[in-house]
Amino acid sequence: AIIVLDFGSQYSRLIARRIRENHVYSELVPAETTLEQLQREKAHLDIRGFILSGGPASVYDAQAPRCDPAILQSGLPVLGICYGMQLLAHQLGGHVAPARGRREYGPATIELQSAAGDQGRAAEIFAGLAQADMAGEGRSLKVWMSHGDSVDQLPPGFSVLARSESNPCAAIAGPGGLIGLQFHPEVTHTPQGREILRNFLFRVCDCRADWTPGSVIDETVAQIRSRVGEARAICALSGGVDSAVAALLVHRAIGERLTCVFVDTGCMRAGEPEQVVETFSRHLHIPLIAVDARQRFLARLEGVTDPEQKRKVIGEEFIRVFEEEALRLAQEQGPISFLVQGTLYPDVIESAGRDTASTATRIKTHHNVGGLPEEMTLQLVEPLRWLFKDEVREIGLALGLPEEWVWRHPFPGPGLAIRVIGAVDEQRLETLRAADAILIEELRRAGLYRQVSQAFAVLTPVRSVGVMGDGRTYAQVVALRAVTSEDFMTADWARLPYDLLARVANRIVNEVAGVNRVVYDVTSKPPATIEWE
Ligand code: XMP
Repeated sequence: AIIVLDFGSQYSRLIARRIRENHVYSELVPAETTLEQLQREKAHLDIRGFILSGGPASVYDAQAPRCDPAILQSGLPVLGICYGMQLLAHQLGGHVAPARGRREYGPATIELQSAAGDQGRAAEIFAGLAQADMAGEGRSLKVWMSHGDSVDQLPPGFSVLARSESNPCAAIAGPGGLIGLQFHPEVTHTPQGREILRNFLFRVCDCRADWTPGSVIDETVAQIRSRVGEARAICALSGGVDSAVAALLVHRAIGERLTCVFVDTGCMRAGEPEQVVETFSRHLHIPLIAVDARQRFLARLEGVTDPEQKRKVIGEEFIRVFEEEALRLAQEQGPISFLVQGTLYPDVIESAGRDTASTATRIKTHHNVGGLPEEMTLQLVEPLRWLFKDEVREIGLALGLPEEWVWRHPFPGPGLAIRVIGAVDEQRLETLRAADAILIEELRRAGLYRQVSQAFAVLTPVRSVGVMGDGRTYAQVVALRAVTSEDFMTADWARLPYDLLARVANRIVNEVAGVNRVVYDVTSKPPATIEWE
C-alpha cells in the first residue's frame, strides 16, 4: 500500500485514485499522522511508500502542516508533490524561496538532467519517459504547474532531476527514494503523469499490482464474516448502486442471514421497483422484503409544496417504514444486530476518522407493533467505506449486478417528489414518470446515456397554450435536464444533439397525456442546481 498524507490539496483524492487504478491499494490520511500511528493502526497494510500531497500552505506559515520526521527517515520512498516537495526540502535542511508575488501556473516544460549524480532508485521516477529532442540534446516533458514558493537550495545529498525555464528545481531526488516534484503528476494536464506515478509505484517502491476487484471482494467478505459472525443483518436497498453492492458483499459473507428491505415510496422512476424485486429476489436469490408504501407517502405529501419540507417528510416516513419492517423481522426470525450501509470512501474522508465499530444506530418503535421490544441497537457494517464510486461499480459488475443498474445515474432519495414542482399527487407523478422514461429511453438509444452524468425530466407547475388537431390545449410544461459533472458540486448542461431533443419532445407531447410543451434547461451549476427543487 501507498499512504498519501493529505496536506489539503484539491487533488489529494485524485492521487489515491490514480494509485488504485494501478491495482495498488492507497489510503489518504491526515497530514499530521505519525509513522508510529500508522504502524499501530494500519498494521494490516504492507506500506511500501508515502506521498506528501500538495496544499495551500507555505512552509513559512506558522500554522503550516508538517510531516512526521520519522516518515522521512523510515527508509521507505517518499514522493513529495508541490507543497509536499517544499516540505520535504525544508524539513531535510534545504531552502524554500517564498513566492514574492510570482506564481508558476499552468502548462510548463521541464528538462530532465542527465548528470544528476547517482540517486539510485529515486532517479527511476522518469525512467523510459522523455525522448531526446531532435538535436539529441535535452530530454523534456510537458507538465502542469501550480505553485508560488519553490525550492532554491537542495537538502544535503539531493540532486536536481529536472528544471523548468523559471525553476531550477522542478524535480529533485535524494538518497533512499526521496523524491520531490514541483508539478502535479496526478492531473491529466500532465500528459505522462500516469507513467510517472507508475514508475514511483513499481520502480521506486517495488509495489505489486495485486489490489484487484477479486482481491477486494475476498478480503471484504472475510472481514464481514469475522465481524458479523452468526448474527443477522438488515439492509435498505434504494435502487442505487451503492446499497446494492453493499448488500451483495454482505450476502456473499453471511448468506440468508442478511435480509434486504426495499421501500416503494411511489416516487421511483418507471420500472425501478420491479427491477429491484426481479434482480434481488429472482435473479440473485437474496431475501427481500418489498414494501408497497406508495399510499403512505402520498398521504404524507399531500399539500406539501416546499422542497425542504418534501425532503423532510419523505426522509421521516422512510425511516418509519424501515423500522417497522426491521422490528417485524426481528420478531419473526430473531434479533438483528447489524445494519448494512453503502457509505463510500469520499464520505469517510469528509467525516475524517469516524470509526465504524463504535458507530451504532438505534431503532425505536414509533408505533407499538404488537408487543415488540421498544428499541434495538444496530451496529453499522459499511463494506464500501474504503472504496471510490468507480471501484464500487467494478465490484458490482464482478458480483453480477446488471450493467444497467451499475451505470444508472444518481437519483435523489426523495425521488420524483422533488421533480414534480409544487404539490405532488399520484397523477402528476405518473405524468412525470412517463416523460422521464421517454427521455431515458431515447438517450440510451442514442448511445449517450453514459456520457451524461445525470438526465431527467421535471414537471413544472406551468400551464401553456397549445394547438393539437383543430383544438386549443391548455396543458402542462415538462422541462428536460441533462448535465455533465465530475463530482456533482459543479455541472454544465449537456450539449445533447438537437435531433435527439426533438425526438424526445415530440414523443412526450404525443405520448404523455396532459403535456403540450417541452423545454430544455440550459443553465449550469452554479448558479443553478442540478435538481429544480
Ligand atoms: P443539486 O440539485 O444540489 O444536486 O445540484 C446535486 C446532486 O445531489 C442529488 N440530490 C439529492 N440526493 N437527496 C439525495 O439523496 C436529496 O435530497 C438530493 N437533492 C439533490 C442530485 O440528484 C444531484 O445528483
